[in-house]
Amino acid sequence: MGVIEVDVARFLQDLHALRAIGAAGVGKGVVRPAYSKADIAARDWLAVRMRDAGLAPVFDDMGSLFGLASGRSVLLGSHTDTQPEGGWLDGALGVIAALEVARASREAGGPPVSVVSFQDEEGRFGVTTGSAVWSGVLSAMQAAQLQDKDGVILDAARAAMGARLGARVYPARFSAFVEMHIEQGPVLDQAGEKIGVVEAIVGIRDMTISFTGQQNHAGTTPMALRRDAFQALSAFNSVINDRFRNIVTPDTVWTIGFVELHPGAHSIVPGRVRFSMQWRDGDAERLARMEAVIRETAEEIASEMGMALELGDMLGIEPVAMDAELRNVLAVAAEGEVPGKWRHMPSGALHDASNVAGLMPAAMLFVPSIGGISHAFDEDTDEADLVTGLQVLARAVSALG
Ligand code: GLV
Ligand code: MN
Ligand code: MN
Repeated sequence: MGVIEVDVARFLQDLHALRAIGAAGVGKGVVRPAYSKADIAARDWLAVRMRDAGLAPVFDDMGSLFGLASGRSVLLGSHTDTQPEGGWLDGALGVIAALEVARASREAGGPPVSVVSFQDEEGRFGVTTGSAVWSGVLSAMQAAQLQDKDGVILDAARAAMGARLGARVYPARFSAFVEMHIEQGPVLDQAGEKIGVVEAIVGIRDMTISFTGQQNHAGTTPMALRRDAFQALSAFNSVINDRFRNIVTPDTVWTIGFVELHPGAHSIVPGRVRFSMQWRDGDAERLARMEAVIRETAEEIASEMGMALELGDMLGIEPVAMDAELRNVLAVAAEGEVPGKWRHMPSGALHDASNVAGLMPAAMLFVPSIGGISHAFDEDTDEADLVTGLQVLARAVSALG
């Protein structure tokens, strides 16, 4: 057969319909964290769209939603949960593009295509939790006990999905996985290019650290006698930034994105701080050297400043190369659609494809992000670029059939 003919209007309509579920903040912002009311409503909406497309919708134990084609099929998709302040395309684009290609392929008598929306890709509880469990990277028992930042346990949160849960979806029914996504960085936008074919996805490490000192009066406690938890965090941050200089490359990133200072009052010397420490790189050895610096520095600061130190469990995903043959199929499709206006590139964001690559050939396709902005309400992509991505995905799937 030729190239599967997608219905662009239907694709855009579905993308906007999904955005309306959990729409929040300014512009096209969406708030749909894993297992929230909006997340579950979005999954229920998607299950209906899957059924209308001739796919059999099932939820696994984690709440990942699969729309299954019969027989052996290509699996396409991403996730529909969002960050606490998320954009409308991070995850949703790959799921709705998958739905449209699956539906169009079925109408045209093309290759069978299944669709997935993995649960908790954005890590309310961990790191790409749904696909990590499906791929066996994380045990179901460990996942059940993960806590979000407010102390809610995953097992309790997923109970909101009730009787939906429980299907077993065997990876062997799929021949390959392709995830379309926005780039979430500035490279394609700055270069005026339309498509990125992902070479590899970076590795990530993530842990929670706490320093506990002494809560005290902010007026009467002399500076020399304080055991101020904020000062410990501040010192920790300066020292690791300095020590990382000899280890990192310009592509290495690290982030303290969550800080909880206790009790958080103007007139109280804070007695406790709990914060996230996350670092990412394409080289597992560099990630390990950074981990050593983080642990050493935290211990040094704690002992110098009279703090009790608690280092939480470290969650991580290894750096993963995308499948060479599938990458080639995507590259040919990109060249066919936008000759000379695409590139091979790494992914600095984490994706479900990292986990799925352990089960079957997996690859990813990027479209530009305006201004490189993502994990923010401002996230957006030109409509024409969304459509180009969809066409490239359809071409690639046609070539796989
Ligand atoms: C996933 O969205 C990530 O944090 O890269
Ligand atoms: Mn995503
Ligand atoms: Mn994301």
